[in-house]
Amino acid sequence: MNNFNILQEIIIDRRSIKPASLNGKKIDDEQIRQLLELANWAPTHGLTEPWRFVVYSGDAVPEFCRQQADIYRNATPPEKFNATKYDKQLHNGDNASHLIAVYMQKGANPNIPALEEICATAAAVQNILLGAQALGIAVLWSTGGNVLLPEMKEYLGLGEADVMIGLLSLGYTDEPARSGRRTPVEAKTKWIDNPLTVGPPNF
Ligand SMILES: Cc1cc2nc3c(=O)[nH]c(=O)nc-3n(C[C@H](O)[C@H](O)[C@H](O)COP(=O)(O)O)c2cc1C
Repeated sequence: MNNFNILQEIIIDRRSIKPASLNGKKIDDEQIRQLLELANWAPTHGLTEPWRFVVYSGDAVPEFCRQQADIYRNATPPEKFNATKYDKQLHNGDNASHLIAVYMQKGANPNIPALEEICATAAAVQNILLGAQALGIAVLWSTGGNVLLPEMKEYLGLGEADVMIGLLSLGYTDEPARSGRRTPVEAKTKWIDNPLTVGPPNF
């Protein structure tokens, strides 16, 4: 296989694996470091490198989940409190090896808008997902639970302009690989080779 074929297989075979499908087996910290190193090579306008990672491992995983469940309870009016959602957060890490909270830390450069910093951080996450796929590590990139709540920013001490990008749950799964599903890219692409039709693509 040439480099393109190898990369193609990694990209197409990568799947989101929910925490409930993890088997509890632990990942070597060294492999997590290798994934973070890949993340660090994401493209970054102005070399601002806005990605930030908080890695929870060992006993910190259930403690983080317990604190997240508490945040949910405290942030939810009693009449809206849902015990199933609370339990989901409490047990989110039961079979995970590591959890990584990922956020964008907005740099001071006024020429680099937040959108670009968010894009760069998302690219860093994709590097992690692809590296994990190559190592046989299962990951879910999630923005569920508290991730997008203001309480989460406060919990992690984010600045006002910083943005949570997601919570990654990493581990191993015994479940067979699933194939993915996408609609054809042709429906999302317009090729323009006629100078008379250069202009809005009108999807
Ligand atoms: C920014 C972002 C947030 C996501 N948040 C969630 C989430 O909260 N819960 C979840 O189950 N999956 C989440 N996903 C994963 C998607 O559900 C998944 O990518 C999609 O179903 C396609 O499946 P695949 O990744 O296996 O190809 C998220 C993906 C992205 C890019």
